[in-house]
Order: sequence, then C-alpha cells, then structure tokens
Amino acid sequence: MILELYKDWVKYMFSNSEIGIDLGTANILVYSKNKGIVLNEPSVVAIDTETKNVLAVGNEAKSMIGKTPGKIIAVRPLKDGVIADYDVTTELLKQVMKKAGKQLGLSMRKPNVVVCTPSGSTSVERRAIHDAVKNCGAKHVHLIEEPVAAAIGADLPVDEPVANVIVDIGGGTTEVAIISFGGVVSCHSIRIGGDQLDEDIVTYVRKKYNLLVGERTAENIKMEIGYALVESHEELTMDVRGRDLVTGLPKTVTLHSTEIQKAMKESLLHILEAIRATLEDCPPELSGDIVDRGVILTGGGALLNGMQAWLSEEIVVPVHLAPSPLESVAIGTGRSLDVIHKLQKAAK
Ligand SMILES: Nc1ncnc2c1ncn2[C@@H]1O[C@H](COP(=O)(O)OP(=O)(O)OP(=O)(O)O)[C@@H](O)[C@H]1O
Ligand SMILES: [Mg+2]
Repeated sequence: MILELYKDWVKYMFSNSEIGIDLGTANILVYSKNKGIVLNEPSVVAIDTETKNVLAVGNEAKSMIGKTPGKIIAVRPLKDGVIADYDVTTELLKQVMKKAGKQLGLSMRKPNVVVCTPSGSTSVERRAIHDAVKNCGAKHVHLIEEPVAAAIGADLPVDEPVANVIVDIGGGTTEVAIISFGGVVSCHSIRIGGDQLDEDIVTYVRKKYNLLVGERTAENIKMEIGYALVESHEELTMDVRGRDLVTGLPKTVTLHSTEIQKAMKESLLHILEAIRATLEDCPPELSGDIVDRGVILTGGGALLNGMQAWLSEEIVVPVHLAPSPLESVAIGTGRSLDVIHKLQKAAK
C-alpha cells in the first residue's frame, strides 16, 4: 500500500517536472500536465536603464508601458514570435520559471521543457530560444512548431491521417498549417498579427486626427470596436484620449468601428491570403477532410469581433473557434511529449 502511494507520488512529481512554455510575443504561458495553466502573463519586462536591474515582469510590467518615468522602461523582448532582445528574454524566462516553480514545488528545479517556435523562424532564431530556456535551468529543452502545439492544444487528432487545419493569429505572427499524421503537410507563417493591427490603428488615428495614442490604447480600441471585414455590423463608437500633435495638449476624439475596420483592412487581407495559400497547397487526398472538418482558429487574434464569420464567408469552409484560443499553444506544448511518444510507438 505504502509502496503504491510512493509510486503515485513519484509519478506525480515526475510529470510536474515536465512543463510546456508558450513564449509568445504578447503573452507567456506555462502549462503542467497535473495543474494545467500555472502562469499566464504579458511578455513584458520593466527595466531600470541606469542600473540595468529588472524591476518587474508580466502584468506588473505591462501596466507600466508608456507610463514610466525616464529611467524606467517597459520592454517587450520578443518581436514577430522570436527573440529580439536575448538578455531581457532570459530575465523574463527566469522570473517566469521561478513563479511557476513556486506553484509546482521542488520538482521544477530541473524541469524538462517543451517550448514553441514559429514555423517560419530560422535555425538561428530557434537556437536562441533553445539556449535561453536552457540557461534558465531546464534539464532538457524540446522545440515544437507553434501550429502543431496549437493543434494538439485544441484537441485535434494530429496523430491520425486526416487533415487538421489550424490558423493561429498571435500578437507577432499568424501561422496557418495543415497537419496530418503528426507532421506539417503545408504551412505559411507571416509576421503579421495583433501587434500589426494595433500599429495600423496608431497610424490611422495619427494621420486622420493628428492624435498620438499609445499601443495599449490602440489594443483597447481594437478589442472594443475593432471588426474583421464582415460585410455589415452594428456600428460602435468609442471616445479615445491622446496627445494632440499640433497643440501638444490632451485631446479626446470619438472613433467609429467602420473607420477602425478600414484601418486594419490591409493587414487582415494579408492574414486571409496566408490562409488561402495554405489551403491551395493542400494535397487533393486531404481536401475532402478540410471541407468536412473545417478550419480551427486559435490565438488572441481569433477573438477579434467577426473574425470567425468573415473567414468562413471568404474561404467557404466551416471555421471553428478553439475551446480556449489564448491557451491552446501552451496546452499543446505541455501535452506534446505524450503525442511524440505515441507517434514514435506508431512508427515502430
Ligand atoms: N478580444 C480580442 N480581440 C482582438 N484581439 C485580441 C483579443 N484578445 C487578445 N487579442 C490580441 O491577441 C494578441 C495576443 O494573442 P496571443 O497571446 O495568442 O499571442 P502570442 O502567442 O503572445 O504571440 P505570437 O504567437 O505571435 O508570438 C494580441 O495582439 C492581443 O491584442
Ligand atoms: Mg502564440
């Protein structure tokens, strides 16, 4: 009896020492098989530029963006899904693994980590992600392509010989992939995602109203009154404050959802183009599956108002939203070791 309990305890602690990390441009998440998502915070680090000390990471650091006094800066060390600032990313990972470790107990001292990389990343970019995680105390580091992780996390049968189409619209990248029998059959990755939509809004408001708004305000505008290119929608408005570029004084303008939709149009069309290009590359034997099973949307961009309806209008196959679009990749990275073992067994 005691031996059984001990065995269960060892098994539990062992699975706690395997974690998945979604190192995203906008958000970083940690998943453990036993406890699910144990950390979900923005990928932001606040740094004192004089001492170079890290003052805060995650939620606390994000609340400082654009509001900090001169010597404190809030930075996002990842851009377009890959590391833009290696040292700051390492700091972010260290703090995140420390926080996650507190929740998971002693077994996190030397965890095996699965971390995702965009499928369009170069070998140098992948190496950087691998080394950064390893430097933070991981025992072994496995890399997995982001759309494969997203598909596993969205509960798609990736190990079966059927076409699973995944569209992951993140902060920095949009990844579209057809996955069958554990492998990527066709894939397109573009460096356009939610961040670009925010930038589009900043540029539009500056040009049209001579008003400077910060990236957090732009993101709020997108979430509240932003619409994908659906033909019609109920017009919404939002009052937005920023700095008048002519007078230098604070000013408020009322924005309408149709103008924000137009501001984001070009980037949204690029996303659509990536989806079309991937579907066009699909081998004919798998095309039937796509018509039957449709396309699964994940990533924060999937939550844009009207996104699901617009894409199904355009590509004329069913489009479904994953159960938790912001968490699919993290869940998939954490669960991927099981799938990898299963595939290896099947291949024997
Ligand atoms: N309700 C919403 N409407 C529109 N956009 C949203 C919504 N919620 C989140 N987003 C956007 O989703 C993006 C973040 O998504 P996600 O966490 O999937 O990105 P990420 O994984 O960090 O980035 P990447 O995979 O590109 O590295 C942000 O641009 C955010 O503004
Ligand atoms: Mg992502």
